[in-house]
Amino acid sequence: MTRPLLSLQNVKKCFGTIAAVDGVTLDIHENEFFALLGASGSGKTTLLRMLAGFEDLTAGDILLEGTSIANIPPNRRPVNLMFQTYALFPHMTVAQNIAYGLEMDKLPKAQIKTHVDEILQVIQLAHLAKRKPDQLSGGQRQRVALARALVKRPKVLLLDEPLGALDKKLRGEMQLELKRLQHEFGITFIVVTHDQEEALVMADRVAIMQDGALLQVGTPHEIYEFPETRFAADFIGVMNFLPVKVSRGAAHTSNGTRIATDKPLDLPDGSAAVAAIRPERLHVGIQSDNMLTGEITAIAYHGLDLLLHIMTPLADTPIISRMTADVADHHNPAVGQQITVGWSARDTHIFPA
Ligand SMILES: Nc1ncnc2c1ncn2[C@@H]1O[C@H](COP(=O)(O)OP(=O)(O)OP(=O)(O)O)[C@@H](O)[C@H]1O
Ligand SMILES: [Mg+2]
Repeated sequence: MTRPLLSLQNVKKCFGTIAAVDGVTLDIHENEFFALLGASGSGKTTLLRMLAGFEDLTAGDILLEGTSIANIPPNRRPVNLMFQTYALFPHMTVAQNIAYGLEMDKLPKAQIKTHVDEILQVIQLAHLAKRKPDQLSGGQRQRVALARALVKRPKVLLLDEPLGALDKKLRGEMQLELKRLQHEFGITFIVVTHDQEEALVMADRVAIMQDGALLQVGTPHEIYEFPETRFAADFIGVMNFLPVKVSRGAAHTSNGTRIATDKPLDLPDGSAAVAAIRPERLHVGIQSDNMLTGEITAIAYHGLDLLLHIMTPLADTPIISRMTADVADHHNPAVGQQITVGWSARDTHIFPA
């Protein structure tokens, strides 16, 4: 493995008695699209601000290509931060907004024009170069803010909730746009979001942050399919949890049915646990390693698929099963029906309760 671009070593930030960032150790590689995901107050912005140099470290170190940058001021770091609430200068045109940072760096005028023209092409706003921010849509403003950050060609671009202000459809488009820009510019992106779907769509790797610490770091697939803790399982996507008890080395539901898993349980007999299964892993009409029966109490229609709420004697809350539109056409599920769903041992995760 090549040397990491950024290396965070036991990074800590305290505000008085609050540890906003509490011992983060993490390597980020060149050209990586890295997403930081976590609930409000988990320390995401604080971590970005330390990377950018706006907060000093209470403990630990940050290395860029092997050299500490902990004591280098923000303007001398090859790191650019796009703030959670980005602000364009209202009295300047799109082009002037983008050029501003380069003018501050005292680049020659001709060079500034070349850079600005180039990036206007990339973000596909050349035709709006002379407009003022209040003459743009939200998505266009967002792209101008991005262009302003990208035009300085930082080694690392830090983006704090870059798509937070956009509606759902535009968000989806901009997620792909961000990926494209990152690829085209070959810049390392660290993006903060509290939208887990967004993190899975955009990032090469995702970190889940909780109370200032990293709970799990991995590819979107690893994070989604192999959560290491109950919190991670619950935080990402939808997850069903069935209360179980461990006996004779296996998990059993409250009615004594043994839950088949593909890994041996590392929990003592007698301990309480939960079996976690994703809704899309529960199938109707297929003989599986594990089966359960219940009554459909609600159906949420999503177009592409349906989410069936199935009340069973095994849990206090309904089990959610995802049924694709073609399967639904075949089975015609209805509220009040009894239904049996099954899932494989491989798709069962067991966590301590
Ligand atoms: N300047 C500060 N002084 C004191 N406490 C702070 C300061 N900045 C942040 N905190 C606290 O540190 C913790 C982490 O805050 P941070 O802004 O990093 O969270 P976040 O993950 O970015 O949350 P959000 O998703 O709401 O933006 C919070 O408890 C916050 O109240
Ligand atoms: Mg924040």
